[in-house]
Order: sequence, then C-alpha cells, then structure tokens
Amino acid sequence: MKLLAYLLYIPLQIVWLPLSLLGVILVGLGQVGVSRRLGVSWTAVEVLNARWTMDVFGLRRDKAARRLAGHIPNDSTFGLWLFCLPLWLTRWVCRTPFLYPVVSPPERTGVAGMVVMRTLAIDDAIAHSLEGAEQFVFLGAGLDTRAYGPLLNRDLAIYELDRPADLALKREGLKAAGIDVARVRYVEVDFADPNWLDALRAAGYDQTRKTIFLWEGVTLYLTTRQVRDTLEAIRAHMAPTSVVIADFYATRTLEWGSKATAGYMEKSGEGLRFGIDFSADPEARLQSFLRESKLRLAGCTLLGGADKRGPLLAIAELTP
Ligand SMILES: C[S@@+](CC[C@H](N)C(=O)[O-])C[C@H]1O[C@@H](n2cnc3c(N)ncnc32)[C@H](O)[C@@H]1O
Repeated sequence: MKLLAYLLYIPLQIVWLPLSLLGVILVGLGQVGVSRRLGVSWTAVEVLNARWTMDVFGLRRDKAARRLAGHIPNDSTFGLWLFCLPLWLTRWVCRTPFLYPVVSPPERTGVAGMVVMRTLAIDDAIAHSLEGAEQFVFLGAGLDTRAYGPLLNRDLAIYELDRPADLALKREGLKAAGIDVARVRYVEVDFADPNWLDALRAAGYDQTRKTIFLWEGVTLYLTTRQVRDTLEAIRAHMAPTSVVIADFYATRTLEWGSKATAGYMEKSGEGLRFGIDFSADPEARLQSFLRESKLRLAGCTLLGGADKRGPLLAIAELTP
C-alpha cells in the first residue's frame, strides 16, 4: 500500500506543485504578515494548523480547531487545502497514513512530526489526570481548542491565559465561528510579570481544588528565570492533587528552529530562549532543572529520544 501511495502521490504532487506553493504563500502571508500587523503570536497559528490538518486527515478529531482556523484573520484554510490536497487525496485513495500527518513511535519522532506527536502525547497526559479535576488552566493558551471540544462535557472551570492581543483575536475568531465560549474565562497575563498569578486568582481560580495546568509550547519563548518563576508561582498556589503538564525543549531543537526560520523567530518577538541540554541523561537534566521549583517529575515522555543527539523535547507531568 505504501508503494501505491508513493506511485500516486509523486506525480500528483509534481502536477499540483504551483498550487501547493500558492498555498504556502497564502498561509505564510496570514501567519507571518497579518500576525505581525496585529501584534499577535504567529507560532500559535502554526500549532492550530497542525491540529486543523490532523482533523482533516482523520488523525485526531478537533472540530473547533477546524472552525476557528477559518475565522481568524491570520490564517488561510484555503491555503492549507491547496497545500495539503495531494497528500489528502493519496491518503483517501490508499486508506493509509502517509508522510504527514502520521503517528510515529515517540522515540522516532522527528521535527516534521513534533507538533502532531506533542499534541497526541499531551492529550494522553490530560486523559490520565482528568479524574477528580475541577479546574483546567491553559497557560499561554494561544489557539488551543481543547476547551471547546472534549473538555466541554466535563464539569470543569476553565481558564485560558495569554497576552491581551492574542486573547482578543481568539475570542473574535471563536465568536465568528459560532463556538460557544460561555464556559471559558479569559485571563490576560504576561509570564514576564512575576505577579501574573494574581489575575488568575482574581478570575476565580481556587487553589484548594484539583487543577490541571497545561503549559504547552510556551517555555521555549521565555527566559530561564521566567520559566523557573512561573513554575514556582504555580507550585506555591496549587492543591496537592493538582498537576502541571508542560513541555521542555532541547537546546538542539532551539538551534534547529532558529536556523530553519533564518533568525525570523527572534525578529518576530518570538525568539527561542529557554532550552535544556538533553544530549545525555535527559530525564536527570530535567529533574535537576525542576529541583529549584520543588516540583516532582511524576511522568515524562521523550519525543525523538532514539536520536543519538538526544530527544527533541520532553513532556513532563509535574506534581507538588
Ligand atoms: C506556540 S503558541 C502555543 C499555544 C498553545 N499552548 C497551543 O499549544 O496551541 C505559544 C503561546 O504562548 C504565548 N506566550 C508566549 N510568551 C508569553 C508570555 N510571556 N506571557 C503569556 N503568554 C505568552 C503566545 O502568545 C502564544 O499564544
């Protein structure tokens, strides 16, 4: 079936190439150009697009991601379709996962599949922790749509935290997409401000209740001090049963990201700052970093760990 998929995909992609390139341009103009004009995160769109693709290809259901992508000014679902069509048709005809998006063993994950596998691993980590949870806090929520999908049926108080412009853009997009936002409380924060947790408490967060904190795809944009301070602040205001799910990136992943975007990340205000050298004994290195914040590493998934340079990232489940 794989051979058939290649035999179909290669000529199809060659013929379609100009339209695929047009798709890349349309998506890029929105993601980078419009995000810059509006002063919002462009990396948040990158993650949304990965989840849009996973839904369209039947890898992970996320109707809200699909709808939201069509209603924010810094994305183009038309462009995404133009780019993806040869892959989608190949998958549809051959009925087999092919090239992208695909599920790979965690240790074999490469940079192309990093966001896909991270999303799936974090879905699993959330599912493990949901029992008894009463609150869910998205730290740097970006365009994550979990709050408008599977979590809706849970009796949870949901908080989405991000910077003001990013929250405003998301709320407008959700409204335009007709997605019910009644259950979610939006809290403006900046993790550079050591008092960011005051805003969460003012919004109703109760530190005596079991809470899931999700910090996905954010630590890499902060300084080491900001990551430590944020974790310490959470540690000081969390119930003993609460859990923080967070991802931490290898320094080699940051170096790759800077090179792949030719330094654009720094210029766009989303420079890559905090990474950990995971080249040897990654779990021990992560534990040593976490010691200061007094959080315990209760679970750890390493993506890309089969590479001799060490994993690309670690997804950690942290408890007090
Ligand atoms: C790559 S996106 C990830 C979004 C989301 N967690 C997800 O997985 O879809 C990074 C997010 O972190 C937010 N962020 C970055 N630095 C921040 C800061 N200092 N304070 C608050 N949010 C921040 C950005 O606005 C953006 O929404």
